[in-house]
Amino acid sequence: MSVTLRSARQQFEAKQRLIFALDVASLAEVKAYVALLKDEVGLFKVGKQLFLHGGPQVVRAIQQKGGRVFLDLKFHDIPRTVANASVEAARLGVQMLNLHAAGGLTMMQETVSAVNKTCKAERLQRPTLLAVTVLTSLDKDDLKRIGIGATIETQVARLATLARETGMDGVVASPLEIARLRRECGKQFLLVVPGVRSQGETWDDQKRVLTPEEAIHAGANYLVVGKPIRDAHDPRAAARQIVQEMSRGLVVDQRLTSSVRRASAA
Ligand code: C5P
Repeated sequence: MSVTLRSARQQFEAKQRLIFALDVASLAEVKAYVALLKDEVGLFKVGKQLFLHGGPQVVRAIQQKGGRVFLDLKFHDIPRTVANASVEAARLGVQMLNLHAAGGLTMMQETVSAVNKTCKAERLQRPTLLAVTVLTSLDKDDLKRIGIGATIETQVARLATLARETGMDGVVASPLEIARLRRECGKQFLLVVPGVRSQGETWDDQKRVLTPEEAIHAGANYLVVGKPIRDAHDPRAAARQIVQEMSRGLVVDQRLTSSVRRASAA
């Protein structure tokens, strides 16, 4: 393969792996950002604030403009409730959704099973199911106060392994957890990573960061970036710059590549 072709392929691959966090609170801003960035990023992340502001209509507005959606509502409830909520998210046509692994084995198993069943019966595309392990806002003392004596790293690895056993597709992980999770959960398990910042950029409220190149090189499948794109003078140029950096970190590993492609096609 020529160098140019390889680099074009890596750019395309990197773009699919960039998730823009739509942390805004109006439908007008959503539409403007999607129009601007739909050819620059792979997915748009919709969180609790935006979803509570605009509801499913926000998701539909993104889809109508050609964007794909990661619904970041971090479900945590009894198994039936989370399974039913996830089925509704699948019916909305989102590409990715997440729940808290701390909700337990049965909650995850029932969710995987209900989503699989509904998607098959209703011929829907099966969304990628991600688990959240330990929120990065918590430290060791916080864990202790809620009765967990393990270190953060051990607890993250334990919950990720549990998620994997139930058939979840991957986890949301901090940059510093990538290497261990990749080792313990294998190459097919998806790692979606927020908390990345380009070299020289301000770290804002992100405490534990890697650059886009480092995070991809370490084994992240997807990166979630909000502020550096949203607040940029030229958000499109900022997204392109991050894609460039990601593509430099991209090791063309066939198995990693195909796991992303499967998730992208889902
Ligand atoms: O800081 P930035 O705007 O790039 O964050 C992107 C998204 O990732 C935000 O929606 C934020 O809530 C999420 N995030 C996260 N865990 C972190 C840092 C950020 O889930 N440790």
